[in-house]
Amino acid sequence: MSPTSSIATRAAQGLLGVTAIGVGCLAYAGLYEVNAFRLRRVEVPVLPVGAGPVRVLHISDLHMTPRDRARQEWVSRLAALEPDLVIDTGDNLAHVDAVPYVTRSLGRLLDVPGVYVWGSNDYYAPTFKNPLRYLTRPSRQGSPSARELPWADLGRDLKEAGWMDLTDTRVTMEINGVRVGFRGTDDAHLRRDHYADVAGPIERNEVDVAIGVTHAPYRRVIDAMTVDGHDLIVAGHTHGGQVCVPFYGALVTNCDLDVSRVKGLSSNTAEGRTTALHVSAGLGTSPYAPVRFACPPEATLMTLVAKSR
Ligand SMILES: [Fe+2]
Repeated sequence: MSPTSSIATRAAQGLLGVTAIGVGCLAYAGLYEVNAFRLRRVEVPVLPVGAGPVRVLHISDLHMTPRDRARQEWVSRLAALEPDLVIDTGDNLAHVDAVPYVTRSLGRLLDVPGVYVWGSNDYYAPTFKNPLRYLTRPSRQGSPSARELPWADLGRDLKEAGWMDLTDTRVTMEINGVRVGFRGTDDAHLRRDHYADVAGPIERNEVDVAIGVTHAPYRRVIDAMTVDGHDLIVAGHTHGGQVCVPFYGALVTNCDLDVSRVKGLSSNTAEGRTTALHVSAGLGTSPYAPVRFACPPEATLMTLVAKSR
């Protein structure tokens, strides 16, 4: 074999190897990890001294379609955790017929007190986008596709179950003897957030713990919540980066949050105040990008406990 043909053969073998690795990763991401659901457990010391624990189930980004049977089954088993409260940070829908699949999956969780906000994927059906663009820049803000999803029908079902819509709203409820004050916004990714409607210093004589709830953790929203004195902010939207680099982490957050806080429990500091921040990596993906890599889908059981003296 001549030196030239030997180099050509080695190059072809290399290309074949790289292609095989790529196909293998894609198969793993789309056939296994996208349905490798995890329950994250965190403890958050935000309750007044002496208060008993409050168990909060945080779910987000279901992106449900009728075909997502594994996701439906896994979510339907979460009721066995018997949380005291459910927080749903939006992007429940990805199909015009998805509403009954979401409510059936929530099942007995709808008997538990719940609060929710909407995400862009509740309002508008997903559209095909080049998945590589997700890694290079955030999906465009405020430019939804034209096709609406039946979010109002889902909202009716959630309200009938007693869950509270926190969109630009303040709500206080007592759970295990703890007065929990919530303030929520509409979706900041669509620039629908109007935090000013619910802003103002937390009234400590009215609530024992203050939780801010929003779909997309844009800094303008979480900073304003932090400055007002919230104890905890809960959000989704990032999908944890969705396609991550093993042993490195996320490349993107799909908003202006830094990648170090793309998922899990962290904190947010603004104007000298610090608030606990929990961002869910979410349970689903857009049907047009049904892959996860080094970032399995998840729900979180947050146990709120008393601050140390
Ligand atoms: Fe989402």
